Amino acid sequence: MNSKSSSSSHTLEPSNIPSHIAIIMDGNGRWAKKRLLHRVKGHEKGSETVRAIVRSCREIGIPHLTLYAFSTENWQRPKTEVAALMTLLKKFLKSEQQELTENNIRLNTIGQIERLPADVQETLSQVMSATQKNDGMQLNLALSYGGRAEIVKMVKDIAKKVNSGKIGLDVITPEFISEHLYTSQLPDPDLLIRTGGDMRVSNFLLWQIAYTEIYVTNTLWPDFEKEEFIKILIDFQQRERRFGKIR
Ligand code: FPP
Repeated sequence: MNSKSSSSSHTLEPSNIPSHIAIIMDGNGRWAKKRLLHRVKGHEKGSETVRAIVRSCREIGIPHLTLYAFSTENWQRPKTEVAALMTLLKKFLKSEQQELTENNIRLNTIGQIERLPADVQETLSQVMSATQKNDGMQLNLALSYGGRAEIVKMVKDIAKKVNSGKIGLDVITPEFISEHLYTSQLPDPDLLIRTGGDMRVSNFLLWQIAYTEIYVTNTLWPDFEKEEFIKILIDFQQRERRFGKIR
């Protein structure tokens, strides 16, 4: 998965920019540990990387970016770490509202937003409505998100419609299922990047990544920079996507 194909001789091809990039931002804790710092310091540095990568995506012209900021499993972390992540998220939203507006970026969320603290929900809906009309790029924050929980919710929503007689079983197609996910308004990701070196998907966008190209880098999220991001995009552009077909 960690493709080592030489991309040094290539440059970014503007006609083949991915429409949707999803990122598993892993390695904040290890980054902090290496420096004998508290894990929260890693998240703080990680939120600076979020800022920089959002900016890079806007500059490059990537229409949709989805960041795995907090998973359904992350609720099981120590209360203090969860609280620090929520505070950091709120701080990020408040400090970025102007930049998102100036750069024509719309903020959106996917996940169980109702589980987030009330003040975070309030800040989110404020920034989302302030940026709602922006159409230069969409930033999706996955918050209290889990792919399995999303699928369970979708099955229940569809089952209710079947039970009430609103729909018959024949209308249930892959497209119909996609329309019942948090990502109904988004194209499936073309590229999934994971930092921190672990070769797993960790319950992220399980349905949506069926044909997504995957790139795992050992770089820890706080150290992830535009230069490497561009290299990954160039690597992506060298891949041949067959979607299960032959050439
Ligand atoms: C994984 O690192 C990262 C997270 C659980 C949260 C991601 C959060 C941020 C990047 C910062 C805040 C987000 C925003 C949108 C401002 P880890 O703690 O699992 O790292 P480890 O695997 O090295 O322990």
